[in-house]
Order: sequence, then C-alpha cells, then structure tokens
Amino acid sequence: MSRTYRIAPSILSADFARLGEEVRSVIDAGADWIHFDVMDNHYVPNLTFGPMVCQALKPHAVTAGGVAVPIDVHLMVQPVDALAAAFAQAGADYISFHPDAAQHVHRSIQAIAAQGVKPGLVFNPAEPLDVLDWVIEDIDLILIMSVNPGFGGQSFIDSALRKIEAVRKRIDACGKDIRLEVDGGIKENNIRRVADAGADTFVAGSAIFGKPSYQSVIGAMRGALAQ
Ligand code: DX5
Ligand code: ZN
Repeated sequence: MSRTYRIAPSILSADFARLGEEVRSVIDAGADWIHFDVMDNHYVPNLTFGPMVCQALKPHAVTAGGVAVPIDVHLMVQPVDALAAAFAQAGADYISFHPDAAQHVHRSIQAIAAQGVKPGLVFNPAEPLDVLDWVIEDIDLILIMSVNPGFGGQSFIDSALRKIEAVRKRIDACGKDIRLEVDGGIKENNIRRVADAGADTFVAGSAIFGKPSYQSVIGAMRGALAQ
C-alpha cells in the first residue's frame, strides 16, 4: 500500500540559541512537519518550551515558497487542557497528549478540535491502546512512543513495532484518515522497519539536528522509505 510519508524533525535536539534559523534550515532540507516537544518537569523529568516559543517560531515554519509547514505539538504535560488551549492560540496545527496525563480524555480531545486544531493521542511504550476503542473516530493523529518520553538521543524500543502494527489495523478498520506517527530513536537505518510495521509519520531529533547536512540525513531517510 503506498502511503504519503512525513518526516517531522523534533526541535528538542536543535540548537535552542538559534531555533528560528534551525526551523527554516530543516524545512529547506525537506522536513514535512516540525515536531515541538513540550515538557513540564512534572509529567516527564525535563523542561522545554511553552506556547510563546511556538508563537515565535510560527512565522519561520514555512517553505521557501511560503507554504506553511504544520507544527506538530507533542504535550508531555499534566494537566493537559490549559496548555493545549494556549498552544492552539499559539498556532499549533496538531496537538497530541498522553491519555494517562488527562483527567477526561474525550473532553480534552473535543476541546482541541473545537479550536480548529487536529487532536492526537500519544502512547508510551507500556501504555495500552484500549482508549482508542472509544475515541479513534475523534482524532487525526496517533503517536506511538518508541522511547520513554523526556529526552532525545535514546535507543529505539523494539516492542513499539508490534504496537504500530496493532494501531495500523485499528486505523484501517475505522477507515478514517489518521496519521500514524512514531517518536523516538528513529534513524535512517531503522525507519524502513518502522514504515513496514505501518507508520507513515516519523519523528527524528538527534538523527537530524547536530549533523553536518540536514539535507543528506533527510534524503537518506526518504531513500530508505522509497525502497
Ligand atoms: C522524547 C520526545 C521525542 C524526542 C525524539 O520525549 O518526545 O520527540 O525528541 O528524539 P530522538 O529522535 O533523538 O529520539
Ligand atoms: Zn515527541
């Protein structure tokens, strides 16, 4: 089955002193989305950036031709709702959150969608998929963590492949156009395996940022996906 693959560099691994420039560079190098990792030092043991940084980066998230590039906000925060609303105002295109971090998952999904933003759910390596039984029709993105959330540069957890296969079956059964994104430890030498399991959207932080040529890394990833 031919799928439209998306590569979403995570700015968690970018140079925080040059974030606007980094966003423009990685888009010029072929990035499809910008993955924006929000950490609150409560739900995960790390602290990153808030809605104001998203707002500041929004004008940089465009192609050379002026086409807006989706900002894919990954909320690793608890509670969820107030920050989700703030990121919706700040220009997020997708907002995904961890169901285990929300009091009322269905209501949080509805609140994000009500702001015209695409809602998504994020599943940690040990998190079951059961909640999808009741909300899969209401979301546009399912994000499978292939590392434990909180840090870039970790190794890919192989059990995620089985979970990706299970989610792919659920998406195909429901018939809705839902993106299946995978996050953590994605490199040019494993992205094909992740795509074969059923993913169509790939987060990559340390595999891209810090490398001499974003173009060659993203190109190598696309080459692996095209095989
Ligand atoms: C981890 C974040 C990931 C991370 C990916 O909590 O959600 O998006 O930045 O970084 P790499 O690609 O280096 O594993
Ligand atoms: Zn992430």
